[in-house]
Formats: sequence, structure tokens, C-alpha cells
Amino acid sequence: MTASASQNIVRVPLHERAYDIDIGAGNLPDTGTFAARRATLSHAIVITDEHVHSLHATKVATSLETHCQRVDLVTVKAGEKSKSIEQAQWLWNKLLQLKTDRKSIIVAVGGGVIGDLAGFVAATFARGLTFFQVPTTLLAQVDSSVGGKVGINLPEAKNMIGAFWQPHGVVIDVQVLETLPIREYRAGLAEVVKYGVILDAAFFQLLEENTADVNRRDPQILRAIITRCCELKAEVVSQDEREESGLRAVLNYGHTFCHAFEYVTGYGQLLHGEAVSIGMLCASRLAERVGRIDKTLTERQKQLLVALGLPTAVPDVDHDDIMAAMQRDKKVAHGKLRFVLPTQLGHVELVDDIKPEVAREILQQA
Ligand code: NAD
Ligand code: GLY
Repeated sequence: MTASASQNIVRVPLHERAYDIDIGAGNLPDTGTFAARRATLSHAIVITDEHVHSLHATKVATSLETHCQRVDLVTVKAGEKSKSIEQAQWLWNKLLQLKTDRKSIIVAVGGGVIGDLAGFVAATFARGLTFFQVPTTLLAQVDSSVGGKVGINLPEAKNMIGAFWQPHGVVIDVQVLETLPIREYRAGLAEVVKYGVILDAAFFQLLEENTADVNRRDPQILRAIITRCCELKAEVVSQDEREESGLRAVLNYGHTFCHAFEYVTGYGQLLHGEAVSIGMLCASRLAERVGRIDKTLTERQKQLLVALGLPTAVPDVDHDDIMAAMQRDKKVAHGKLRFVLPTQLGHVELVDDIKPEVAREILQQA
């Protein structure tokens, strides 16, 4: 699970579902070779979105052509709305038209929306197809492409329909981040900061000390931080693949608030990572309020998030609506709100005895 300087391969050690994450600069055109070493290739379907199609997905398709008899490239609309049952159904029909069978492979090339959607379609079509992830947003590279959570949204509840379906491998090329809009790039940085708070104080400090390089997308620092995030995620996922023991839930730091903000503001207004940024600060303030940490930890997070260009203020919406949305969150256990709260930098715990009125106070405070 460690990365060396010459070869950034992170292994996700999940026994028969174990796989490699290849992290490099300029390695996207080698996706075909990477996949051919890990699966029998005959027919590949590359699923992407309209923005990533010509920027990066055609190169992935070309690289697969060397190893496959047939490669199809299927493009869907960009954005969260594509994580819908209608879009999944359209893709299932498309796969049928393309004569997809159980030997075909799916390759998701795009951000978290494409990874979640294409992964869900891969998990469900013909009782499950081999799939690979080629994440092209920072958020997808450090989080959504690793760990096998795939799914779509219901109009009333995000990520409510889904599966655990591990990829056969993940190809991460930091060069693709050069074309990523600045707001999307920053949104991914929120998930990067999250790893420092929940699991690795030294990594948090490294981010604090390198904000200028991170902000200018320096490929060397990007490779190092993406590798560390993938190592941390691989470790968590290998110990609690299906989020049963509570360990994997630490990855949801800030997400109880975040999902509510996304829902109440209407999906798309706040980017997921932006909502994570605000949600982490709310969770940290909540931890302060219940005596788990002192305010210096919240202040450090705020300073880092601001230095990375992320929003920190609770959206100006009705707090009753936010509370109602939080009650619907998947982490509500037996009617109780559950939060991931820090106890110190690099350590968080799942807490389920927070009274709703206390969580509500935090919204007013922030
Ligand atoms: P996204 O997939 O919508 O991508 C953001 C935008 O960037 C899109 O417009 C896309 O077309 C564009 N884009 C992608 N790569 C690009 C590139 N290299 N250059 C130019 N444009 C590019 O959003 P996201 O932030 O990557 O993912 C958010 C989704 O991820 C949410 O649905 C969230 O629920 C999900 N998610 C899933 C997990 C998981 O474990 N499965 C974890 C975190 C988030
Ligand atoms: N992004 C949270 C998880 O993968 O569990």
C-alpha cells in the first residue's frame, strides 16, 4: 500500500477484489495496456461526459483499440442530473444495442458523476461487468474512483440507489487536471483536506505548508498528495469495504451537513466539494460545542480551506429545511442524527448522540 518515487502504484488489498491505482503524469494514454494486464479485453465501452469526451476520453478509447476487437465511446450530458434512473436506463439500453455481453468491459472516464453512474451500470448490467476507472477531476482521483461505491440519485435523496462494485483498476493522470475549471479543482481540494483532518495530521501540515504549489497545480505536489489520499482511502476501504464497522464512515466527515446543503440549495448550485468544505467546518464547530476539540482546530481548517479558495459560510437557506434534509441522510441510525466529529487533528469518531437542536445551533453560529 505504499508508493515509491518511480512508480506510484497504490494497491487496494481486497483479496479477490484487490486492484491497483496507477498514479502518474501523462499515463492516461497507457490505459489500454494497464487494463490488458488486468482483464481479458475483447469489447470495451468507454463512458464519458460531453466535456471530457474530446479532452481525454478519445485518448483512452484509442489506447484500448490496440488491445480490443471493438471499442465504443458513449457520451452523456455533464453534471449531477446524469446520476438518474433515466440516464442509467438509457445506458442499459445503449449497452444492449452495442451487443454488450459479460466479457465486455466498462471504462469510466470523467469525474465522480461518470464514475458513479458508469460504475452503477457496470454493477447492474448482465449481473455485473468488469470495469475500470479513469478519473479526470481531482475529487474523483482522491475519492470517488477508489473504494467501489457506485450509484445514482433519487429526486429526494442523493446516492440512494447503488452498490459496492470495485473497479479492476484505476488510472490517475495528474495532467488531465490542467483542463479542469478552477472551481472544480478547488472543490476536489476539500476532499484532500478531509483526509488530513480525519487520518493524517502530518499530511494536513504538508498541505498548510504547500498551498502555493497546490494552488498552481504543480504536478509533483499533485502526484504526492493524490498518492497519499489514495493510500489512506485504500487502507480504510480494505478494513471496512461495505461500511459495516463504522471505520469507512470516517470518510463522511462533514458530509451530514454537506448532503443537506446540496439538497436544500438544489443539486448543482454548490459543488459537492464546496459543500464538503462548509460541512467540515460545521462538523468541527459541533465537535467544539460538545467539548471534543478546542477552537484552534476549527480555525486551522478554516485557514487552510480559505487559502485553497474554498467557501466556508453556511448557505443562506431556511435552517428548518437543512435540518429536515439531515434527518433523511443515510447516516441517520434509528432516528438519530449521526456525525463524524474530530477529537484531534488526524482522528475522528462516529457520534450518534447529538441532539438536533445542538446541530441547529451550529447552523446559526456559522
Ligand atoms: P463531475 O463528475 O460532475 O465533474 C465536474 C465537472 O468537471 C463536469 O462538468 C465535468 O464534465 C468536468 N470535467 C471532468 N473532468 C474534467 C477535466 N479533466 N477537464 C475539464 N472538465 C472536466 O463532478 P465531481 O466533482 O468529479 O464528482 C461529484 C460526484 O461524485 C457527486 O455525484 C458525488 O456524489 C460523487 N462522489 C462519489 C463518491 C464515491 O465514493 N463514489 C465520493 C465522493 C463523491
Ligand atoms: N466517499 C466516501 C466513501 O467512499 O466511503
